[in-house]
Formats: sequence, structure tokens, C-alpha cells
Amino acid sequence: MDPVTASLAELHDRLSSLADGEVADYIPQLASADPRTFGLALVSMSGNCYHAGDTDDLFSIQSVSKPFVYALAVSALGPTEVARRVGAEPSGEAFNAISLEPGTGRPANPMVNAGAIVTTSLVPAADARDRFERIRACLSAFAGRSLDVDEDVYRSEAATGDRNRALAYLMRGAGSLAGDVDETVRTYFRQCSIQVRVADLAVMAATLANGGVNPVTGDRVIEEPVAVRALAVMATCGMYDGAGEWLLRVGLPAKSGVSGGLIACSPARFGIAVHSPPLDRAGNPVRGVLALTELSERFALHLM
Ligand code: DON
Repeated sequence: MDPVTASLAELHDRLSSLADGEVADYIPQLASADPRTFGLALVSMSGNCYHAGDTDDLFSIQSVSKPFVYALAVSALGPTEVARRVGAEPSGEAFNAISLEPGTGRPANPMVNAGAIVTTSLVPAADARDRFERIRACLSAFAGRSLDVDEDVYRSEAATGDRNRALAYLMRGAGSLAGDVDETVRTYFRQCSIQVRVADLAVMAATLANGGVNPVTGDRVIEEPVAVRALAVMATCGMYDGAGEWLLRVGLPAKSGVSGGLIACSPARFGIAVHSPPLDRAGNPVRGVLALTELSERFALHLM
């Protein structure tokens, strides 16, 4: 066994028995996830993929989609125009907090729900179908394969998404959300419902770590300055109100999601992803946080 796979397998075996954290239960598709599911994947800058544990499971990408849609919006509109609509400051609040900057009505950053809803609305398109198709195509290019929506997850998200709808109405009232609320929130729910495997997330993370070129397909997905911007926002805001502790302990740009996905990027080295559904109180996957903390210490990955 090569040393990278051996490290992942060792972590997998040791952290598998951990019983901490709670699986998200606001929709049945997430509540029914097996808390024992635990997979890790790492993709190097030469496009080699290493993995351990449960890597066949398909799960909804949820908030791990946010940095990629942010990158798409910045690619399309440029950083200044996007910054007029959404900030880049850590909120220190929960992912679903009401986030409106006094004066401008801008959400704090594109990694919390409010900011991600605005980011989704900024993707230029002829209509709602076209906007979602651009998002799907972009995430697919990051992953290096065509990704699809889990329609059951989408229907449940749409049926239970009143808080996100309320956030969108508040932002529309404050002038920071320009699009139609219902259309924007539906597109955001579809984006969150895109299905991935842990190896897809690792390729997506590796593409950001590689300055926007997918190391498996060789395709440039975004320009390097856009990738740098996405990584910077992930570093300060990607782990919600656990972002400060994460940056202290792990020191890598990262993004978590409510289905248990977690990505981290070691710039110019690799992208890594973990899938394990039980979450801590900040909404970050418990095994993913521990696995990355250990890897960062053992291999001196901390960027600072
Ligand atoms: O907006 C929501 O409620 C979900 N569809 C996605 C949120 C998410 O993944 C937050 N992560 N911890």
C-alpha cells in the first residue's frame, strides 16, 4: 500500500468507532443517513486519487457547493461587482443566521446561507433553468464528470426551506438581492441537491488547490485569481462559527456541508474530501474535522 493510502486507511480505521455528533434531521433524506458512513479521498496535483473507507455513497453536496458557485459568479462578473453584493468577512454566526451588513444590506460572506443565496442569484443567465444549468455545468467541470440532482432531496429542501426563503426576502427588502425570491431560492436548493461521491469532492478541492485547473481532466475551470479568492474566503469563512478554531488547528482553506461532506485544499499540493454525516454544534462533520486536524499536524500542512 502506498504511504498516502496507508495514512488515509489508518485514520479511517481509528476514527470509525467515534460516536460523537448528530446527523442532520431537517429532511428525511439526511436524517436516514447511516452515521457510520465514513469515506476519505485525496487527489494530488498530478491527478492521482487515493481513498479509504466508504467511497461509493452518493450524497447531496449541500453547502460544499458554495465556494464553487462563488467562483462561478466572480468569473462571470468580476470581484468588484460580486463584492458590491456580498461581503468577505467571517460572520461568527451559524450558517443560517440573518446576515445583513448595516447600511448596505449585504450578507457577511458567500459561505453562509444568506451570502450563498445572493451568489446563486448573481450567476448570469437567460432564465432559471439556464442559471441552474450553468451551475450544474460548472460544478461538473470542477468534478470532472457530469453531476446530477437528487430530486427527492430537492423536493424536501424546497418543502422545508422557509428560513432560506425568509433570508432571501429580507435581502430583497434590503436591496442586496436583485433576483426573484422564489426562483433564486429554488435554484439554491437545486444546487445544494447535486449528488456527489467523496472522490468528486476531492477532485473539486484539488482543482481549487491547483489554481483552477482540474488535475484529472487537465481542463482550466476558472482563472487562477478567482481560485485564490475562493480559497481565501474558504479560509476565513468556510467552517462557519468554527472557522477560527479550524484555522488555528488545521490552517487550510475548507468548506463543510450539512450532509457530512468536507473539503480542504492544500494549495499546489492536493485537495482532500471526507464524507461522514454526524455533525458538531457548528454544523461541521466531526470525523472530518478530526481527520484533517490529525493530517495537518502529522504532515505539517498548516499554511501559517
Ligand atoms: O440551506 C440549507 O439549509 C441547506 N440546503 C444547506 C446548508 C448546509 O449545508 C449548511 N451546512 N452546514
